[in-house]
Amino acid sequence: MIDEKKKFQEVLNVGLEVVQTRDIDILLERILTKARHLTNADAGSIYIKEDNTLLFRYTQNDTLQKKLPPGKKLIYSTFKIPINNHSISGYVANTGKVLNIKDVYSLGNDVPFSFDPSYDKLSGYKTGSVLCFPLKTHTGEVVGVLQLINAKNPGDENVAFLTEDEPFIMHFANNAAIAIERAMMTRDIILRMIKMAELRDPMETGAHVNRVSSYAVELYEAWALARSIDRTQIEQDRDVLKMAAMLHDVGKVAITDLILKKPAKLDNNEYEVMKQHTYLGARLFSNQRSDFDKAAFLVTLNHHERWDGNGYPGHIDCISAEPLTGFYDPSGRAIGKRQEEIPLFGRIVAIADVFDALSSGRSYKEAWNEQRVLDTMDQERGKHFDPEMLDTFFSILDVIRNIMHQYPDMSE
Ligand code: C2E
Ligand code: SIN
Ligand code: SIN
Ligand code: SIN
Ligand code: FE
Ligand code: FE
Repeated sequence: MIDEKKKFQEVLNVGLEVVQTRDIDILLERILTKARHLTNADAGSIYIKEDNTLLFRYTQNDTLQKKLPPGKKLIYSTFKIPINNHSISGYVANTGKVLNIKDVYSLGNDVPFSFDPSYDKLSGYKTGSVLCFPLKTHTGEVVGVLQLINAKNPGDENVAFLTEDEPFIMHFANNAAIAIERAMMTRDIILRMIKMAELRDPMETGAHVNRVSSYAVELYEAWALARSIDRTQIEQDRDVLKMAAMLHDVGKVAITDLILKKPAKLDNNEYEVMKQHTYLGARLFSNQRSDFDKAAFLVTLNHHERWDGNGYPGHIDCISAEPLTGFYDPSGRAIGKRQEEIPLFGRIVAIADVFDALSSGRSYKEAWNEQRVLDTMDQERGKHFDPEMLDTFFSILDVIRNIMHQYPDMSE
């Protein structure tokens, strides 16, 4: 038992060392900026490979940027390009070759790819010359594409990219590939942590983890859109919340099977042990080095707090598990966090988690029908749940039902 715990802890710690998603975003942005300056390119984009498609990840465009008020960010929609020889970036990802094109609107008949002008039409920007590089790891695997657009001469006229510049861009492409590979490794490790939590608790299925995290992300997005929160901010928060919510119960890996798998109601002592899964999970992320660590810390620690202050673990130091100074009741127990003292991500995952627990079977209970679940949740307005967040939940019920059907339990 002890050894098993230790092993989990070790693998989990390895995971946390490499979680730096946000830093990688910043790094990729810098790489693109440098590559553009070196070639005097007006615009550029980075695409990341995901399965068999290229995901458009970043773009910079000086001409379009100059038309915006100062400080305003360029709005662009994320889109996917299939990895095949039909498009410029698809060809580069597929073949691993560099393309240096003088003018995308006058491609010869001897090339398999064509230029899709729909992006230009949408943005009102005219693409001319393109220098497109595969982002290859040291093992030669293509993980993305770096595309530079419209080289300018000193007179600010559009010209072709210089062949002499290609080796320098190769250097940036290699750095970008390493950063992307690291980010993908991080993702893999987090997914492995989630898998371990599932193995530990047979009820903690992939379906459950997917449902709770998908509900949470939808709740956050609806809540944030209603508050006019910046689109880029929402996208970033979605990503970290998704992973963090998947790990909300990761602390259960440290709870004994006798309690975790008990096919009946827990007695008081057992329940007290079970409650430890909140801060035991939070300890894994207590260094809070990245945005992901911070989100996972908040979610693991706070997903069982209640709006009325009767939840757990309350105002504690998650390392010592002692109540914080001034936050204990006469019996010496920590006082629960109340209302907005509970971090947003905690309030969100509380609703997602209870909704899913009530609507699915557990070793100690049957699944409830939807009406009973919704009635129970509504009765907890202002007691267990943040009333405003509960309104958000009811307002997106169709989306919630969709997710439920998308990830059914195996046994059903
Ligand atoms: P869980 O099963 O995922 O439940 C998450 C939360 O959903 C629970 O947090 C509780 O707020 C709500 N919930 C779940 N089932 C019911 C229910 O039948 N009625 C009502 N009103 N609410 C429900 P809670 O209670 O803090 O429990 C945390 C975790 O402790 C649970 O996660 C589960 O893993 C475990 N647990 C709780 N009670 C029992 C039990 O009686 N037997 C066993 N074996 N495990 C239990
Ligand atoms: C690209 O492939 O990089 C942009 C779209 C296209 O050229 O077809
Ligand atoms: C479980 O299946 O043990 C519960 C996971 C959750 O908290 O919803
Ligand atoms: C409870 O666990 O006390 C009630 C569950 C709920 O808040 O819906
Ligand atoms: Fe929990
Ligand atoms: Fe849960």
